[in-house]
Amino acid sequence: MFKEIYKDDTTLKTLLDGKWIESSTGNLIEIVSPLDNKVVGKVQAMSKEEVDDSIKNARKAQKLWRNVPLNKRARILYRAADLIEERVDDFVEIMLREVGKDRKSSESEALRTADYIRFTADAAKAMEGESIPSDTFPGFKRNKVSIVTREPLGVVLAISPFNYPVNLSASKIAPALIAGNSVILKPATQGSISALYLARIFQEAGLPAGVLNTVTGRGSEIGDYCVTHKLIDFINFTGSTEIGKRISSISSMKPLLMELGGKDAAIVLPSADLNVAAKNIVSGAYSYSGQRCTAVKRILVEDSIADTLIEKIKAGIEKLKVGNPLDGDVDVVPLIDSKSADFVEELMKEAEEKGATKVIGGSREGNLIYPTLYDNVSLDMRLAWEEPFGPVLPVIRVKDKDEAIEIANKSEYGLQASVFTQNINDAFYIADKLEVGTVQVNNKPERGPDHFPFLGVKSSGIGTQGIKYSIEAMSRPKAIVLNIIE
Ligand code: NAP
Ligand code: G3P
Repeated sequence: MFKEIYKDDTTLKTLLDGKWIESSTGNLIEIVSPLDNKVVGKVQAMSKEEVDDSIKNARKAQKLWRNVPLNKRARILYRAADLIEERVDDFVEIMLREVGKDRKSSESEALRTADYIRFTADAAKAMEGESIPSDTFPGFKRNKVSIVTREPLGVVLAISPFNYPVNLSASKIAPALIAGNSVILKPATQGSISALYLARIFQEAGLPAGVLNTVTGRGSEIGDYCVTHKLIDFINFTGSTEIGKRISSISSMKPLLMELGGKDAAIVLPSADLNVAAKNIVSGAYSYSGQRCTAVKRILVEDSIADTLIEKIKAGIEKLKVGNPLDGDVDVVPLIDSKSADFVEELMKEAEEKGATKVIGGSREGNLIYPTLYDNVSLDMRLAWEEPFGPVLPVIRVKDKDEAIEIANKSEYGLQASVFTQNINDAFYIADKLEVGTVQVNNKPERGPDHFPFLGVKSSGIGTQGIKYSIEAMSRPKAIVLNIIE
């Protein structure tokens, strides 16, 4: 299945107009594994001219695709989901080597993606449009009816991050396709091989040529050209707040769906079940080494229970398996690159210099940073505010729930937050005041299940994801008003 996408053992081609091609630039980008520094593969570094061809081709293909009956589009998505499940081992191996994701997380990402794609087809079939009579509005007789259906937007540019190379590509592609759009997929360079495997799956599932094209190359080289291209009708971006802000500043008037960075807080009240809180905080903060936008990235806890909670979290961290997923089943893996590990180390060093108490961790071996917990983190420390995207967690002690809310809302980010309490009134009191897209009560922050609305406010995003919401974001109402001639 995947040999078509390879020119030779290590060189991958890119998908344009149903054909896997090499870039005329002859330039290749080596993808090196964060686990053993071995070359995983080489991807095409496409030129702006080739990006242009790809977008023009997708626009042409979209003209036909929009007229393909939804049941036929759905059949292709169902087929794609089946194929992913059939080839789950291939996805596990490539994600393991390319983005250093442990086997268990890689498998759940692939299977989650198959479920996502199927659910997207089901959801679209249930979005039936509406007809609105005129006489419900004052002064109107019953001589008009507005028949409202949904229209595709055209060509969607889908830009995905490294940390979910398959799932966060498919969560853009599937809703866009089912709505009748064509898609240009620009995957993260470190993750592009896994994303090319996904593109091959959609092709094998019967997607017509040009409806999904892939653009490989560094975002720093072709990114601006893609997002400002006049033939792009919608940008669906997941990535850092820094790049997100850049895109929204240069992509004038293009409609955007943006899922950006986070600094998700876990607020723990004295009325919480501290075992539940500690368990959720440990898996929420350290799975995939904290390289999740929804990772728990700060704890806001009342002084009276802080010591007990920290003991329970420390005990949970001590049970985590740390190491190289090539060697076996581990929870905490090496970070995606040394630049990311340097950044995490920088935040830890500054916190320690300013008096934070290291409860556990702090050591580093190459890109591997051991799960680390700091107590007595104060608001003048960068670790209190910046997104480490690594396995380090600050504890900020507060006097009460109102101070927790205040500090939580002071962050530039607003993705999710968790409130741990068994007092439902406190839960709603706090949830009501938090400036975030989602408040989890007695659970860690997380995007799934994928039919729930998923959104970030402030610097964490624009618009709402989640299957039905993504379909709506990448389509628009079209009204045909019948006027009865009297
Ligand atoms: P990133 O550095 O922002 O890259 C994201 C994507 O943008 C990559 O495909 C990248 O390509 C591309 N890109 C870079 N410069 C561009 C430009 N000028 N124009 C267009 N595209 C450009 O993020 P990442 O390191 O892959 O992912 C980690 C970040 O994403 C974290 O901040 C995390 O919080 C956030 N994230 C958020 C969510 C969410 O749902 N809210 C989910 C996952 C991750 P290259 O790889 O070629 O540079
Ligand atoms: O960072 C990826 C983001 O979308 C989180 O997904 O399912 O790990 O909460 P999840």
